[in-house]
Formats: sequence, C-alpha cells, structure tokens
Amino acid sequence: MAGSGVFEEIFDGEVFKYYVDGEWRKSSSGKSVAIVNPTTRKTQYRVQACTQEEVNKAIDLAKVAQKSWARTPLWKRAELLHRAAAILKEHKAPIAECLVKEIAKPAKDAVTEVVRSGDLVSYTAEEGVRILGEGKFLVSDSFPGNERSKYCLTSKIPLGVILAIPPFNYPVNLAVSKIGPALIAGNALVLKPPTQGAVAALHMVHCFHLAGFPKGLISCITGKGSEIGDFLTMHPGINCISFTGGDTGVAISKKAGMVPLQMELGGKDACIVLEDADLDLVASNIVKGGFSYSGQRCTAVKVVLVMESVADALVEKVNAKVAKLSVGAPEEDSDITPVVSESSANFIEGLVVDAKEKGATFCQEYKREGNLIWPLLLDNVRPDMRIAWEEPFGPVLPVIRISSVDEGIHHCNASNFGLQGCVFTKDINKAMMISDAMETGTVQINSAPARGPDHFPFQGIKDSGIGSQGITNSINMMTKIKSTVINLPSPTYTMG
Ligand code: G3P
Repeated sequence: MAGSGVFEEIFDGEVFKYYVDGEWRKSSSGKSVAIVNPTTRKTQYRVQACTQEEVNKAIDLAKVAQKSWARTPLWKRAELLHRAAAILKEHKAPIAECLVKEIAKPAKDAVTEVVRSGDLVSYTAEEGVRILGEGKFLVSDSFPGNERSKYCLTSKIPLGVILAIPPFNYPVNLAVSKIGPALIAGNALVLKPPTQGAVAALHMVHCFHLAGFPKGLISCITGKGSEIGDFLTMHPGINCISFTGGDTGVAISKKAGMVPLQMELGGKDACIVLEDADLDLVASNIVKGGFSYSGQRCTAVKVVLVMESVADALVEKVNAKVAKLSVGAPEEDSDITPVVSESSANFIEGLVVDAKEKGATFCQEYKREGNLIWPLLLDNVRPDMRIAWEEPFGPVLPVIRISSVDEGIHHCNASNFGLQGCVFTKDINKAMMISDAMETGTVQINSAPARGPDHFPFQGIKDSGIGSQGITNSINMMTKIKSTVINLPSPTYTMG
C-alpha cells in the first residue's frame, strides 16, 4: 500500500509530505492538493500545497548542499546513484501501485516504468564516471599567430541548482532522467512533480533519501502551479530547467531568463507507409505505437500517412488488431485505460466530434464512459480536420491517405511539432532519403517512434522542444565547460 512499509514516514495518514533538507515535512500552508484517480474519478491521494517561502528554503538549502556535493569524488556520487537505483527496483511494487491509481497506467507498464528508471539511474552513474572523468588539453600554436606558449585544460563543472519538472505520463522515469544526470554532474536538484503522479514521484524520491544523499541536495516540492509554478521557474536561484510536458513549456521558456533549458513538449509523430512495406509489421507497430498507454505518450504514433494503394489493406489489418485490445481498469492490466483527466477526455472528444462533422470514416463506434475512451481509428482524415494536426494524447488515431511520398513528407513537415516520425519500407535507400527530408528530431525506420533505449539521443525541433535528452546529452547539458590556461614564459624553451 502507498505510504506504508519503508515509505511510512512520507505519509501523515491523510496527506503525503514534501521533501526538503533530508526530511519529510508538512507544509505551513495547512492546505493540500487532491489527486483524482482517473478510473474512479474520486480523490485517491492528497499532497502538500507548498508555499513560496518553502520553495525559497529548498533552493537556499540546495545552493549550500551543492557546493560540497560538487567536491564529492565522482566515484562516490556514482556509488550513491547505484544504491538509489537498487532501492528503487527493490520497491517497484508500491511505486507501481501509485502509478496505477494516479495516472491509470496499466499494471505491468507501471512496474516496467520503475524498473526502467532504476536501470536509467545505474547507466547514468556509469556514463557520468566515464564522460565527466575526461577533459581536453589544447595547445596554442594550432591557431595562427600563436607560439606554443599556452596550454588550455578544460573540464566539465556543474551548473548549480537544477529544476526538474516531469510530466504526468512518466512521473518516475522522466523525473529520474533529469535527477540522475543532474546529480552525477555535481548539481543539486529541486523536483516539482506533476500533480497526477506526485505520489509515485514522492516514493521515488524516498528511495534517493534511503540511499543516503546529503541533506538539502534533493528536494521535492508539491503544490498548485498557480501558487508556485512561475515562482519556481522564474526563481533567481535556479540555474537550469529541465521540463517535459505540453504547452506550459513554451510559457516557461519565455519567462525563464538566462538559464539553460531542456524542453520536451510533445509531438505529432507521423508514420509514413510506402507501397512495399510489410503491412503486418506496420499494423503491429501502429497499434503498439498509437495505443499503448492509451496514446498518452509524446512519441505515440499520432498520424498515419499511408499510400492510397495499400491503405485499405493496412486499415483492415489495424482494425483487426484494435478489435483485440482490452479496454478497462489499469489494475486488470487492460490495454486501454482511462485517460488522465476529465478535461483531457473532453479535449479528445472535441477532436472526434470535429472529425465526424467534417466526414472522417469511423472504423469503430466512438464510445466513452467517464475518462475511458475506446480505441478509435479514423480513416480518410483530411487536412482541414483538427485531428490531422493536433495531439489528442488519447486512444484516437487518424489515417490520411496519400498519393505520393512527397505528400506524406509535406504533411509531416507542415506540423508545428517535430519530435519523431517513422517510415515503413523495404527500400533502405528510400528510407534514408525520407528520414533526411523529415523535419523531426528522430526518424525510426521500420518501427514505431520511441524514446528508448534511454542512452539514445532524444530531441524535438520546432514546438517539440529545446536541446537534446538521453543520458549522455543530459549530463553534458547539466554541466558547463571550465578552462584553465597555463601561460608559459616566452620565448619558448629550446634545447641546447
Ligand atoms: O511522452 C514522453 C516520451 O518521452 C515518451 O517516451 O519511452 O514512451 O517513447 P517513450
């Protein structure tokens, strides 16, 4: 049960506490924020509604703790991360239970998220030891007009205090993908979890607490965005923001000021299907890529662009697979579970209604009960429909029939997003040329879009984000280069 066993100290019996200065505390606000279970639509948990003063305190403590953490040997930082990873994996069951209750993640996927997170933290420790253990040595006489009189030594140093804001769909995994790189690089970390997913995140933070990280180095602040959101993101004590989520990221980018930003803000990931594609492979990938976690992934297949000549055959194969998807509660490990909130379900429904009014072909009957929306493939979608461009973040997938590959590439590139895309063909030359033409951070050939494995670079262009993630890139992003130049007396020493 959430908040029991080793997690007892994070819960006061009614409200989950927040984490600061190496302790679990109640907010002085005396207020809490409700977390609604997407399946029952009833309050499942409560978390503290922290105040701006509590944010100030967390950042002040982080500043102090970071100074000595930056001087802690790299191997020791790695050792603590490995310990946290092991504790996280050991306690995967209660953390996964929170994911099931807070964000309706299917039971098996919830466990997978926690295990993947432990693996990510371990890999980060290993990678950090390697890349942060290296620097550069430059000699001045490479540059015209210079003698061999200056030696430049560069190394990577931490940025200071990193603010990590993960999204509801991976509140544990996309939190540790920020926490791990921040800590191994010698930074302190303030985590602001999403409201849905906050309790899973608090459990995860407790695993870092149990691992024995220094007091003040990590804090986890819960509360209302309206009260502490802008305050956190515009706080002068924050030296870097790593955010994953939606439009809020655009607003944060505009307000953040002169700090490095790492932003992943969604996508409209296109799946281009050529005439020679293996349609069984395509259908499996469309169903897995489009409907896993009910389409609530930035990397979900969000529009199928299929050559007209194979469209009927592909739609038939996808429909056969959609018919086999189980729909129901996350506890039963159903394939399709309720979407995260009523407002999200209403938004998805708005896209469906628009598509219906404009003449899309419904391959299944549209069905909704509360936040639960049955999987729906919409065929013959045209560019004048909202669903051709907008991201439903739900189990509704549009199919646009195209008469040329150029038409597919054009649709993909006309999107404001540019996260990932995929192309299915047996012709590798064509696949490479299409990949080159697609304006997205990643193109998958003969597979659905996906972020992992987590050491791969992960980046979006246009409205899909700023910077590149993936373990190595995140470590580099959360450091800056420091040079020390040794100036030798001139003239240069000569033998004999
Ligand atoms: O939506 C978050 C995005 O990072 C997806 O990750 O692992 O489902 O491809 P993944």
